[in-house]
Amino acid sequence: MKATVFGTGYVGLVTAACLADVGHDIVCIDVDEERIETLRRGKVPIFEPGLQELVASNAQAGRLRFSTNTPIGVRFADLFFIAVGTPPREDGSADLTNIFSVARTIGEHIDCYKIVVDKSTVPVGTASLVEGTIQQAMRARGADHRFDVCSNPEFLKEGSAIEDFTKPARIIVGTDSETVRKTLQDCYAPYNRNHDKLISMDVRSAELTKYAANAMLATKISFMNELANIAERLGADIEDVRKGIGSDPRIGYQFIYPGCGYGGSCLPKDMRALAHAARDAGFTAELLETVERVNNAQKHTLFHKLEQAFDGDLRGRRIALWGLAFKPNTDDMREAPSRVLMEELWEAGANVAAFDPEAMGEAHRHYGNRPMLIFASSPQEAAKGADALAVCTEWKQFRIADFGWLKANLRNPVIVDGRNLYDPAQVRRHGLLYYAIGRGEPA
Ligand code: UGA
Repeated sequence: MKATVFGTGYVGLVTAACLADVGHDIVCIDVDEERIETLRRGKVPIFEPGLQELVASNAQAGRLRFSTNTPIGVRFADLFFIAVGTPPREDGSADLTNIFSVARTIGEHIDCYKIVVDKSTVPVGTASLVEGTIQQAMRARGADHRFDVCSNPEFLKEGSAIEDFTKPARIIVGTDSETVRKTLQDCYAPYNRNHDKLISMDVRSAELTKYAANAMLATKISFMNELANIAERLGADIEDVRKGIGSDPRIGYQFIYPGCGYGGSCLPKDMRALAHAARDAGFTAELLETVERVNNAQKHTLFHKLEQAFDGDLRGRRIALWGLAFKPNTDDMREAPSRVLMEELWEAGANVAAFDPEAMGEAHRHYGNRPMLIFASSPQEAAKGADALAVCTEWKQFRIADFGWLKANLRNPVIVDGRNLYDPAQVRRHGLLYYAIGRGEPA
């Protein structure tokens, strides 16, 4: 099959590469010339395990091409995936400028029946607005062609995007057209094996399903973080509680890890957009708004623990920071808890010596000119001579730490762990003060 993918961000690029990999003929369109040039040179501008190889091999095979020429993209195929960014506006609502710009171009160049698939995360009702925009642009030039707009949200996670795309838990298709359903069924067939994972529904329900899934995940995390804060005050260990409740299959073990707050480009933005959409519809989403508030507060927890360790005075201290990305296996620092911590530390007069296996480039981009940030080239370099160590991201290489070395090389024996990576008894045996999430105070 031939398909055009509009947008070469996480969702667009992964969709395009994975569809090309099973033999579809794909053209990727992006208005960012530099990005397209980079992709044409065989370089992927984002860090995502396996994506570079997948893009390169399919580009080489001629099944994956890149262009900034939108009209060519419209003429190339009869199946379009819209996967452009929908950044948050100041008020939390999703900015749909990029979506409508693609829709207009489709309307300006449509020449036969086309299927338009919304893959970006978009508020309920967007498909019908896209339809209206295409109609308007088409009519303005006196043309009249049939087309369908459907919702097919993507559920991939950064860091395991290819695995998520190729082994989907579900393929949501929001449409009332049997032609659309059948076309997407065929398109995804190579990845829809063993049992049929395609769930079809009306378009508005499909749009809401995407937000509902992320809202559920965010709620689980904030629930656990709140429970961790209670456990800490009641002298219980949240890690035991986590195992205790996770063993109930109705609750499950996934997404109940307490920590220093959820970040990334999706959960926080989608929570705000959903709450905003609810408000616009005259309903206050109390639970969703609280989940987001609990998360924002949780991002301050490591700073408070450091303040506590240093009697409220962090001036002139040097804090080692392991992990800048919002989670492992990505270089993405959008809404990362590490940023809240660093900014609070600077405000309090402390310096930060940071190390991340992949996000140092991103850190340079965000904070390159900050004199109070030292870019370390290894975890050890960050920690050596620091007053305390804070851990923000659970990268594999931080999971095993040499506590003897840390005791000898930290100026103060303080570890503040935002991901509960270590066994408190083992850390404390080395004479280190260990502050974790929901695991009691250091003895
Ligand atoms: C999230 C969803 O998991 C995907 O299903 C969805 O497709 C995607 O958003 C999207 O809308 O595009 P992602 O943002 O890549 O994926 O990251 P997650 O793996 O969901 O992690 C989000 C945050 O939650 C991270 O900061 C992570 O550290 C935190 N987290 C996750 C916890 O604090 N505890 C947990 O138990 C799990």
